Amino acid sequence: MEEIHSLLHQAEKEINEATDPQSLEHVRVKYLGKKGHFTEILKNLKNLSPEERKEVGKDINLAKDKFQDSFAQRKDTLDVVARNKQELKESIDVSLPGHPIQIGALHPISTTLERISQIFSQMGFHTETGPDIESEYYNFEALNIPEHHPARAMHDTFYFNDKHVLRTHTSPVQIRAMEKMKAPIRIIAPGKVYRCDSDVTHTPMFHQVEGLMLDEGIHFGHLKGILEAFLQAFFEEDVKTRFRASYFPFTEPSAEVDMSCVKCKAKGCRICKQTGWLEVLGCGMVHPKVLEYVKVDSEKYTGFAFGMGVERLTMLRYEVDDLRLFFENDIRVLKQFSGV
Ligand code: DAH
Repeated sequence: MEEIHSLLHQAEKEINEATDPQSLEHVRVKYLGKKGHFTEILKNLKNLSPEERKEVGKDINLAKDKFQDSFAQRKDTLDVVARNKQELKESIDVSLPGHPIQIGALHPISTTLERISQIFSQMGFHTETGPDIESEYYNFEALNIPEHHPARAMHDTFYFNDKHVLRTHTSPVQIRAMEKMKAPIRIIAPGKVYRCDSDVTHTPMFHQVEGLMLDEGIHFGHLKGILEAFLQAFFEEDVKTRFRASYFPFTEPSAEVDMSCVKCKAKGCRICKQTGWLEVLGCGMVHPKVLEYVKVDSEKYTGFAFGMGVERLTMLRYEVDDLRLFFENDIRVLKQFSGV
């Protein structure tokens, strides 16, 4: 009976020391399993005298009951603890901040293209597009650049096959627009252009925006007014312009447009090569020969056209000093344009 008491004492100690349902189960097996301490005593009852058997039997059953009570109590506690632990592991804390989503941004060239379209659309120009793979006819011939004209050599053309090229400028869209629509026409044509040229200031692919306005009585004054209004709106400052006589086969007269340097305010700096002026556009009055190609009566209608380089305008507006930054897709660079 002594032994039963000290066994029970030891068992209860072990029950209370069990820290999880598994170790508690081990305690149960140790005392009440097939070869458990209490079970062994019960098995041995038959070797005792009837009186002893009665006494010891009563005691061992009492001890077993107590053990089971303590066991059940401890099991309840440990089950609750285990369940809480599991729930905690599976639960979602809705008050925690979520994983931030990386938000993309427009490429600076796209932003500039949109900005140019917006400014021109406010002046009544709508957007036209043409194919990147263009026939020689549209890219050169109909623009008054016949086969052996030196201007073809100047374009560093990528030939796609013997009749098609990767367009070297957006000017062919002028021809497509005049074939498709009747005067009055007021369009811009933004897009990619390609030239076999690659160095610090040239990339084989770049962007241009072409412009065309065709109607009765259009003259150089309209061209000047539109381009000045555009440059002022684009740079959001009072830029001065200068029209220099130039040559393009598809315009007559032709001009190149310089604007006062936005960086140094025309005082002279590295960007404007100390001249105070930046060349930003080519333009002119549509050549009567071009109108002839698209069967527009050049006695009745006149028009102006212009073409500008989008990378150059973007570099000037955002003070980017290396063209290659636009094409390397370095996320650290592009991220800086997410708010513009
Ligand atoms: N197409 C010319 C180029 O790529 C730019 C240009 C000049 C376009 C004069 C025009 C224009 O429409 O009138 O260099």
